[in-house]
Amino acid sequence: MAERITLSVIKADIGGFVGHSSVHPALLDRAREVLSDEGKGLLVDFYVTCVGDDINLIMTHRHGPDCEDIHRLAWETFKKSTEVAKKLKLYGAGQDLLTDAFSGNVKGMGPGVAEMEFVERASEPVVVFMADKTEPGAWNLPVYKMFADPFNTAGLVIDPKMHAGFSFEVHDLVENKKVVLQTPEETYDLLVFIGAPGRYVVKSVYSRELSDIAATSTTQRLNLLAGRYVGKDDPTLIVRCQSGFPAVGEVLEPFTLPHLVSGWMRGSHKGPLMPVSVADATPTRFDGPPRVIALGFQLSDGHLVGPQDFFQDKAFDAARNMASEIANYMRRHGPFEPHRLHLDDMEYTTMPQVMEKLMSRFEDIS
Ligand code: F6R
Ligand code: MG
Ligand code: MG
Repeated sequence: MAERITLSVIKADIGGFVGHSSVHPALLDRAREVLSDEGKGLLVDFYVTCVGDDINLIMTHRHGPDCEDIHRLAWETFKKSTEVAKKLKLYGAGQDLLTDAFSGNVKGMGPGVAEMEFVERASEPVVVFMADKTEPGAWNLPVYKMFADPFNTAGLVIDPKMHAGFSFEVHDLVENKKVVLQTPEETYDLLVFIGAPGRYVVKSVYSRELSDIAATSTTQRLNLLAGRYVGKDDPTLIVRCQSGFPAVGEVLEPFTLPHLVSGWMRGSHKGPLMPVSVADATPTRFDGPPRVIALGFQLSDGHLVGPQDFFQDKAFDAARNMASEIANYMRRHGPFEPHRLHLDDMEYTTMPQVMEKLMSRFEDIS
């Protein structure tokens, strides 16, 4: 049997520089140091990067998803980088590490996890999308376009390997349930759910023709885990491309629309998701607008050949300009919905504490 490779992306915000805008280079250096020392013999390869205030550890190995040793390595990496963050008094040092002791799997402990295992093809192009100042549901619209919209993905019409469509595994983050829906025949059913990205998120996508995984994302809800407001869960998405999966260009195409996502300032506002290069992934204006980066790798016996910083391309300038215009328009609404999140979503922010104080002042209307 062909050897399987696992691609694990584990991410956390363990301190911002300055405020919540970026990651200090010393933290990235420390993370690289720990992964190369302690990952020896365990990892095939790794790449460390950041988007906004989030560090992403992109790792390849032969141990499958949910491997305790890999999760421990990521946890230790974040712990040791946090020590640097504390020394520099960076903002929110260690913020996503919700417990002190590691207990077998980083899921539920704060960091976000996206992992997939597959047999590496003769050529294996993958794209890792990473976003800051938004939530996992932000991927719903672009993932739908990549895998189910023939106006975005020509391969759905033209490529016989894609013609059978894809299976979407959708998670209900509130009830903690999942359902698998098939496209194209269940497209309308799928949209009933994923059109509500605050609750229903696409966890993974599978090719029906190849019976193989095509995409997977992080789906943790930090606020629900922590029981207090700890920001949005800046998400990550891994997509395999070409030869029966969408082409790289079909996977990038949805980001020409800076669609509205939840997050931005205080995790409490709707704003456009702006595609940017790694160098420009530094949310500033009103702590945003939310950013997304896309790094492409060719896997070669598990080695990460790359990255290619896709959104550096000028072809995304128009999307960035549109995002800035949308940002201007949305900002003018100030504290009013729908720029500010709907009341139900504000439940997971610091606003209930403010409301609580005023509750006793309310009287019945006679
Ligand atoms: C959003 C985010 C920031 C902070 C904001 C206030 O995800 O991280 O917008 O919410 O800068 O931060 P604190 O409450 O730490 O002053
Ligand atoms: Mg932060
Ligand atoms: Mg962040």
